[in-house]
Amino acid sequence: MKTQPFLAITSGFLAVASSLSAQPTLKEAFKNQFLIGAAVNQRQFSEQDARGAAIVKAQFNSITPENVLKWEAVHPQPDEYNFEPGDRYVEFGEKNGMTIIGHTLVWHSQTPRWVFQDAEGKDLDREALLTRMSNHIHTVVGRYKGRIKGWDVVNEALMDNGMMRQTRWLKIIGDDYIVKAFEFAHAADPNAELYYNDYSLENETKRNACVELVKKLQARGVRIHAIGTQHHNKLASPTLAQMEKTLVEFSKLGVKVCITELDVDTVASSQRNTSADVADVTRQTGTDNSQASGLPDDLQQKQAQRYAEMFALFHKHADKIDRVTLWGVTDADSWLNRPGRVNHPLLFDRNGKPKPAFDAVIKAANPPTIPIVP
Ligand code: G3I
Repeated sequence: MKTQPFLAITSGFLAVASSLSAQPTLKEAFKNQFLIGAAVNQRQFSEQDARGAAIVKAQFNSITPENVLKWEAVHPQPDEYNFEPGDRYVEFGEKNGMTIIGHTLVWHSQTPRWVFQDAEGKDLDREALLTRMSNHIHTVVGRYKGRIKGWDVVNEALMDNGMMRQTRWLKIIGDDYIVKAFEFAHAADPNAELYYNDYSLENETKRNACVELVKKLQARGVRIHAIGTQHHNKLASPTLAQMEKTLVEFSKLGVKVCITELDVDTVASSQRNTSADVADVTRQTGTDNSQASGLPDDLQQKQAQRYAEMFALFHKHADKIDRVTLWGVTDADSWLNRPGRVNHPLLFDRNGKPKPAFDAVIKAANPPTIPIVP
């Protein structure tokens, strides 16, 4: 019998709808392990991107602002704060009962030049820059006191070689700028969780440098709740052993770990560059657009396997992990897309459909029980 087109469409729709409703969501699957977060952009939290917003509401129980609370966005001029997007972001999280994260207070990037200068364009001295840092932190953290659960206080202060990054913050204030940032944030909201956040912490040199940094902060009496390890990963690096070592070593410091910016870059020519330094992004631009028309099946499976292994590891160490946040919602939103370089790093494709990687992550939430052989 020939199927009527209308019936075919309706039954197809019902099949998709029922398979989606039968599938547990990410936040349900991991509800006993850790929070599942997503970095959200303005189009999503304002619900202009209705499909993106719906995915966030259905799947995630924590959000991080991808850009709107960075210094240049929230405090573009010395006497001008732009809280409109941040306010909408926090309202979106509250309306949907989510754990709301703040990102980020002190960073070398996306910070206007004027921050470090006086009205004549001359470098500020230590005291003046500390005053500026304190005012910024008190104003931003203070505005969302009791509503934003935790803050990435300092972002990416270490280099891949384990040295402190030579930022304007470090050069003008000195290496206690990190201690000061944490103290100001704690004073602004004594109940907020405070995090140090960085990338490539799975590499031994940088891992050790981070351990030393956190020990120094703790010795100065700084209240640090967790280390955020970003996890901008490739298909094969870092290895699971590297990731596990970092989770274990950080946990020994008596802090929690948050996986803060998870994605898995699929583009072939990016696989060699294992740094997530924003300054290195130009090295990744190239013209590798081999995935412009979609992610080939073999890579789709490889990525799913990679996500499965990572989530199995996170599951194993769930006692150490507070939150796993993906850096974006669908592949179309990811920072890893560049002109001439279409990427597929996340769990939902460009049509908002769950990818094989999504199914793999859900499966990793329920690892098969190994039968006990008598
Ligand atoms: O909104 C402006 C727009 O007004 C302007 O006209 C346009 C022209 O450049 O830029 C727009 O800003 C862009 C912004 O994203 C919002 O889309 C910036 O150029 C662009 O540099 C910025 O990129 C962000 C990047 O951080 C730098 O802040 C990415 O979206 C964001 O995903 C990325 O996130 C970082 C984390 O914060 C820290 N860890 C690494 C991670 C990936 O780089």
